[in-house]
Amino acid sequence: MIEKIKLLEQKSRELEPASDERDEYLDKVINYSRSFLENIDSLKAYQTTEDNGKGIYDSPISDVPISIDKILDIIKNHVDASGINPASGGHLGYVPGGGIFPSALGDYLADITNKYAGMFYASPGAVRMENMLISWMCEMIGFPAETSAGNLTSGGSIANLVGIVTARDTAKLKSKDFEKAVFYFTEQAHHSAFKALKIAGLGEAVIRKIPVDINFKMKAEALDKQIQSDKKSGLRPFFIYATAGTTDVGAVDPLEEIGEIAKKHNIWFHIDAAYGGFFLLVGEGKKVIKGTEKADSLIMDPHKGLFLPSGSGAILVKDGKKLFNSHHYNASYLQDADKFIEEYSPADMSPELSKHFRGLRMWLPLKLFGLAPFKASLSEKILLTRYFYEQIQRIKGIEVGPYPDLSIMIFRYIPENGDPDKFNEKLVQEIQKDGRIFLTSTRINNTFFIRLAVLNFRVHLNTIELALEIIKKKIKLLSLT
Ligand SMILES: Cc1ncc(COP(=O)(O)O)c(C=O)c1O
Repeated sequence: MIEKIKLLEQKSRELEPASDERDEYLDKVINYSRSFLENIDSLKAYQTTEDNGKGIYDSPISDVPISIDKILDIIKNHVDASGINPASGGHLGYVPGGGIFPSALGDYLADITNKYAGMFYASPGAVRMENMLISWMCEMIGFPAETSAGNLTSGGSIANLVGIVTARDTAKLKSKDFEKAVFYFTEQAHHSAFKALKIAGLGEAVIRKIPVDINFKMKAEALDKQIQSDKKSGLRPFFIYATAGTTDVGAVDPLEEIGEIAKKHNIWFHIDAAYGGFFLLVGEGKKVIKGTEKADSLIMDPHKGLFLPSGSGAILVKDGKKLFNSHHYNASYLQDADKFIEEYSPADMSPELSKHFRGLRMWLPLKLFGLAPFKASLSEKILLTRYFYEQIQRIKGIEVGPYPDLSIMIFRYIPENGDPDKFNEKLVQEIQKDGRIFLTSTRINNTFFIRLAVLNFRVHLNTIELALEIIKKKIKLLSLT
């Protein structure tokens, strides 16, 4: 047996490369990332290739190793070459963040030390770091330091799920109550909320879509009326979902009024600030996002407004005990961990047990840069969007949506002849084919609109000028055909 163990050990030790091998891998990976970043301005924001990633399958997982050079080649040709380039400043679609460089250093260190940030006992420092980030966000939105708590999630969708489950359990909703429980949204609520409802077992609950005003914001009065009417019919108004920065147009619902209504009727108030939340760091954002302190729970995504790479969201709950009560579980094999608790452990505040040490990719850049460049970038993005909003209207035939609250807006071109929806659909396709910038579209009240989302930290004035130029050219081209 010893012989066999030794033989296996020899092979298994290959999992621990020697120092010079590590240096070689590091050098090559650093060179690859250096070249990616040095060329970022000329790389397309979107492109398709003939391969479209299929080449990945030519190198199946097997016992046979391949070199780091070959690995980087595969990544370059079959992963990085096609699709959206979320790191590109030209990415003006969906809700981009970009992925600031020091987050990669945080991830690297988190992976090397593999610190377990799930339980206080396992890494008090890592847990304190995550809790400190959560406290900082709670303070930003006006939640009391003494009671509030939260969790760093993989993104807004999971944060929504955690919020909904916490509200469900706090209200002690049982399955027999589900059909009478009422959720209040608007048409503009992010679809992850509805997905979360379904996953939380609440798919049979009553969903009310409260009407929006011309700026796509919830009509608070209509919400109040609907709640009163639901109460009269014996239903159980339970959860209000408002948004601070909708995905379609970046609209901020009237949070203060909604908060008052929630309080009056004793209904859980949840704010989706996945996109808009970090704009609270700047004056322009504070002017439009008012009333977050009235929420019971709120989500915000560092991988959006703090420009982190994908994989960073947050759920914040005013009364952290409620979050804990919904997600805490004991297991006998974890009994040692229970003896050393000075702070909430992330594993008690989310569905996850083993988890990535997400705090480091957020904490490291905040400490390394300080807040000032983040604030400048957020203000810049708001102003760039306003600039685009003004400039795009100089193109004859352009129709715009509401004046942007934050950094997302919609527009469309009305051609002299033909169907505007078809024209704008082709316009988006042409812009994507060009690939230097990437825009996406949406449908509102069954009308096709093009969206501009200015949140990648690499978007600056030159990108916006380029976007205007490309849009102008493509409209001209399509008008001639
Ligand atoms: C307003 C809003 N809420 C929630 C989400 C879901 O967040 P995630 O993609 O991080 O799961 C998004 C995503 O774009 C969003 O824009």
